[in-house]
Amino acid sequence: IAAAAARRDLAGLRIVISAGGTHEPLDPVRFIGNASSGRMGWALARAAVLRGADVALVAANVTLPDPAGTEVRTATTTRELEEQVGKAADGADIVVMAAAPADFRPASEQPSKIKKSSSADADQGLELSLVQNPDILAGLVRARTDQRQVLVGFAAETADTPEQLISLGRDKLARKGCDLLVLNAVGHGRVFGRADSEIRIIGGSADESETPPALAGSKELLAHHILDAALQVRSER
Ligand code: CTP
Ligand code: CA
Repeated sequence: IAAAAARRDLAGLRIVISAGGTHEPLDPVRFIGNASSGRMGWALARAAVLRGADVALVAANVTLPDPAGTEVRTATTTRELEEQVGKAADGADIVVMAAAPADFRPASEQPSKIKKSSSADADQGLELSLVQNPDILAGLVRARTDQRQVLVGFAAETADTPEQLISLGRDKLARKGCDLLVLNAVGHGRVFGRADSEIRIIGGSADESETPPALAGSKELLAHHILDAALQVRSER
């Protein structure tokens, strides 16, 4: 890491990183969201700044202090994130979608607070109608005009074995069409909001073995591995 930082091997490159989790409003005080903290995106931004990159962060509901030396834009919903990332990605050399966009949003946002039923005795539920959000990463792949631009996705999957994780990841990589996909297993108290995690990177020419190695350590260290892989893809174009 020290060597990469000293070489400033990302100098001259513009890197866009999305981070956090989007919120989709149900009514003025409630939303549908997820547990993404933004820490992975933040670690990527710090690592990229250290290595000399020009870094733009697009943050969805992240409560961490802005990393030094970055330009931070914010978005609340998936559609806002799509707009911000789309603008930032224009002219970017590497785009890393570390954010967790909500896949669905309420079909309609209620203008006033949803109330419980007035009949006190009835245990009435509430049915929500959801519609699908745009797939930002797939859209970036479709809209890519600079064929040297490297697009990196993340996939957090509930998987019990590495084989299952990698198989889900390979399907997703093919579906999205991005260059690299960073896989991690979630569930059972793993990953979300934690400092350490374990990832596997698939895609790119370095992905030769059937089972790409597990990379473990701090999010900072993993961030450098991810940037190494993205730089490798770029250097081959
Ligand atoms: N992603 C995106 N736009 C969305 C959903 C996801 O750009 N609406 C990005 C994420 O930021 C991530 C990658 O796509 O980099 C994979 O996200 P994931 O949620 O694992 O993929 P999905 O296609 O939404 O599949 P799933 O049904 O498993 O959630
Ligand atoms: Ca999803």
